[in-house]
Amino acid sequence: MLIRYKKTLEKIAMGLMSFMPNEKDLKKLQQTMKEYEAEENRQLFLWKEEDIIGLLGILFHADQNAIEIQHISVNPSHRHQGVGKRMVKSLKEMYPDKEIISNEDTAAFIEKCDLC
Ligand SMILES: CC(C)(COP(=O)(O)OP(=O)(O)OC[C@H]1O[C@@H](n2cnc3c(N)ncnc32)[C@H](O)[C@@H]1OP(=O)(O)O)[C@@H](O)C(=O)NCCC(=O)NCCS
Repeated sequence: MLIRYKKTLEKIAMGLMSFMPNEKDLKKLQQTMKEYEAEENRQLFLWKEEDIIGLLGILFHADQNAIEIQHISVNPSHRHQGVGKRMVKSLKEMYPDKEIISNEDTAAFIEKCDLC
């Protein structure tokens, strides 16, 4: 299930975030985490099964009634088992009246989730 990020989960969240190709640089990664903590229009979720194995970061576009998926990653040991798609499906269920969109860093995967 999707759980909201909190500071006590920072280390695991940073580890998952670092799998995003654009978050390999530590300074950039720390800046991204700060933005999620500080900005009200951003929200970080973690995906918990027995352990926390996935991350989903979103940006709310109030003007477009849309949610942009900015970050999505799954622990490499748990990939190709549908976790990524389940995270997108859960997000849609959480915000049924919003359009889910991607950015250039997440489009390749999110486009495959059209049927999620
Ligand atoms: C992208 C990612 C979140 C998918 O997680 P997952 O739990 O393995 O996804 P699912 O099991 O639901 O779906 C797997 C399918 O997604 C597709 N897929 C995986 N990574 C992809 C990528 N980077 N771009 C496009 N499609 C991708 C494949 O078709 C794959 O099918 P397969 O299992 O038959 O190979 C995971 O690979 C990841 O963390 N990658 C590193 C972070 C990243 O690059 N995020 C941005 C992706 S655009």
